[in-house]
Amino acid sequence: MSVFSQVEFDNHEQVVFCSDQETGLKAIIAVHNTNCGPAVGGCRFWNYASDEDALIDVLRLSKGMTYKNALAGLNFGGGKAVIIGDPKKLKSEALFKAFGHKLNNMNGTYYSAEDVNITTADIMQAHSVTDYVVGLEGQSGNPAPFTALGTYLGIKAAAKHKFGSDNLEGLTLSVQGLGSVGMYLCERLHNDGAKLIVTDINNDSIDYAVTHYAATAVGLNDIYAVDADIYVPCALGATVNDDTIPQFKVKIIAGCANNQLAKPHHGDALKDKGILYAPDYAINAGGIINIFFEQDEDGYSAEKATAKVHEIYDTLLEIFQRADNENRPTHEIADIMAQEIIAKGGKYK
Ligand SMILES: NC(=O)c1ccc[n+]([C@@H]2O[C@H](COP(=O)([O-])OP(=O)(O)OC[C@H]3O[C@@H](n4cnc5c(N)ncnc54)[C@H](O)[C@@H]3O)[C@@H](O)[C@H]2O)c1
Repeated sequence: MSVFSQVEFDNHEQVVFCSDQETGLKAIIAVHNTNCGPAVGGCRFWNYASDEDALIDVLRLSKGMTYKNALAGLNFGGGKAVIIGDPKKLKSEALFKAFGHKLNNMNGTYYSAEDVNITTADIMQAHSVTDYVVGLEGQSGNPAPFTALGTYLGIKAAAKHKFGSDNLEGLTLSVQGLGSVGMYLCERLHNDGAKLIVTDINNDSIDYAVTHYAATAVGLNDIYAVDADIYVPCALGATVNDDTIPQFKVKIIAGCANNQLAKPHHGDALKDKGILYAPDYAINAGGIINIFFEQDEDGYSAEKATAKVHEIYDTLLEIFQRADNENRPTHEIADIMAQEIIAKGGKYK
């Protein structure tokens, strides 16, 4: 398997493969870039079909963190970790402690946090042996409500740009994934008077959204072709692809999932189809912004974090406007804006 020539490798500074026989830990930790500060990004626990799939995923995710942290104006670099295997079978306190010891070996080059299938409680178990984890209980805690807030504001910014108003009342949003972020988001959208069409692999989550947020449930593969104004991907990545783009009837794609475009050219295809795309790492930065405030010299403050999350609205409007001015797709403009910041070592340098 080639590594350095993978397009996803993209000059990663460090990629660490680690295992612990006793606990069954198999993990890959990727540090993409530390120009703006130490690499920070969550850890995902997933039963990958192959080690190669896990590697490609972690490389894509860690590069995404470099761009996300830079564009959000945080003094963090980009990194990510994946733990390979079935979380239902493998999760144990010993495994998270073993993961914590692996983080210690990296001496603060990378700080980990929660992501898909990892909870704050899991992170606290790692924290019992390492300081190189963030998103801690009693400090910034669960990032999901902040990610949901940022995504909600990003959806409003997209509506403002596309429809001339950021009022979501009466609009129909198709939400894929009712997990930690998706469910908080549904609550906000429902409170604003939006109509919801939802799907998830978990029937209990669907029942909850139907009961509490008057959502209409559809099958897993039916979500792409529904009659809606905005598609809100909140599950896994790559759902904007050759298969789904012809099906979309929406005018906007704006959700919290990482790596929504299967390939960069799918962002071009959205532009050609007149669909406004809110670049994933710009709209879903709320959680990492919240975590950033754990480092604040006065101690963590939810008020400061919330105020910073609100900047996502303006960042997205800037991306959309610049994309229009330069007649380029929004994902390219977000990349250019992030690269400009990374090159100078931080937004405020
Ligand atoms: N948690 C955060 O703060 C945060 C921050 C930034 C980005 N994200 C990204 O947002 C996405 C969701 O994160 P989360 O923390 O809510 O994860 P989660 O695991 O809590 O939720 C994911 C949900 O998607 C559902 N799902 C999985 N496969 C599906 C499929 N094929 N079709 C429909 N639903 C499916 C799951 O059942 C679950 O309800 C991920 O891509 C994650 O990387 C999360």
